[in-house]
Amino acid sequence: MSGKHIVIGITGGIAAYKSLFLIRLFKSSGYEVKVAATRHALEFVTQLTIETLSQNRLYADMFEPTLHRDVQHISLADWADCVVVAPATANIIGKFAHGIADDALSTLLLATRKPIFIAPAMNDKMFGEPTVQHNIELLQQKGCRIIGPQSGFLACGSTGAGRMEEPGQIFRVVHQHLTGAGRLAGKRVMITAGPTYEPIDPVRFIGNHSSGLMGFCLAEAAAAEGAEVTLITGPTHLSCQHPAVCRVDVTTAEQMFQECMAIAEQQDIMILSAAVADFTPAQVAPEKIKKVSDSLDLHLVKTRDILATLGSRKREGQLLIGFALETEHEIENATRKLHTKNADVIVLNSLRDKGAGFGTATNKVMMITKEGKTFESELKDKHAIANDILDVACTIIKQ
Ligand code: CTP
Repeated sequence: MSGKHIVIGITGGIAAYKSLFLIRLFKSSGYEVKVAATRHALEFVTQLTIETLSQNRLYADMFEPTLHRDVQHISLADWADCVVVAPATANIIGKFAHGIADDALSTLLLATRKPIFIAPAMNDKMFGEPTVQHNIELLQQKGCRIIGPQSGFLACGSTGAGRMEEPGQIFRVVHQHLTGAGRLAGKRVMITAGPTYEPIDPVRFIGNHSSGLMGFCLAEAAAAEGAEVTLITGPTHLSCQHPAVCRVDVTTAEQMFQECMAIAEQQDIMILSAAVADFTPAQVAPEKIKKVSDSLDLHLVKTRDILATLGSRKREGQLLIGFALETEHEIENATRKLHTKNADVIVLNSLRDKGAGFGTATNKVMMITKEGKTFESELKDKHAIANDILDVACTIIKQ
């Protein structure tokens, strides 16, 4: 990345120590880095550390006498290919949202016309406070990209949303933006995964053997291609490694339906790999069912079909990919599902193929497009299958 210039803005929060890692990540990828820090930031990290890591002078004092004839905040604003504020406190967010420029960094932010990335970090109550949220919306309206924050343990001792996004992820988002790396850069992708559990009584449920692995592999592969991914998953022991994946946990088919509908409109690609229950108990017994009789009848009612509903609401430019798990008349059944649910592609798993489908690390699929084209994969690792599915998706969205 020689030739690319990053200005990292550091403000006064404990996460400032993480921006040192961010400087290193950009430097080791060949970027030129200059740092603008607030006075409060320098209570957490020192000028010496910043200058040693960035190999450039720190920009912290607006009124520093200079031998150069150019005005520092203007020249730095022009020099930068982008500005990344990490961590961004409620204070800098508020100042920038309202056009206040009273120190080196806030002045630079107003002076630059280059892309600005903001990684908020603060106490969860501060982050949730309506004024802060409003200021973040104002920054988004100005075109700033907000990265994070994450939820988790906070330095103040509480737990919630406010932890600065990890440096690795901030780096990836910015790097992808500058290089255009990733075929799905700028795209939003929603993926469903895993089984659903339909409760019978407080201790029992109807479920299935889906592990969720195929959906998790798809989520990681789409994130690696630069997409912003939302992974809506039923109960599973899996964890997702890629920080660009926003995970939403659900239990029942109805919860999965609700979560999908809430975000479907903004998605570019939706891949429904979850093994959603087709039926759910009409009533959930309020107490544990006792074995007082020799048999038990459960009355089940149909769940709402997420794929079919998304298909009926699909807007221009959206790509909808469904899965079909079949045990007989595979291609006919899958093709019927493709058309009746108005999907663009259906990924067919056949339980007849050894090593494919549920509970395995491998899969073997056939993809059928609505134009009738087919792509067949060999039996391979689900990560590799995920890349095959995304290859087909990328080819279609490029057309
Ligand atoms: N699906 C869904 N919502 C449901 C049921 C299924 O979104 N309530 C989705 C699955 O995630 C998958 C596709 O529909 O992408 C096909 O699921 P499958 O169970 O194979 O098909 P069904 O339509 O349920 O048909 P059948 O069970 O009769 O084969």
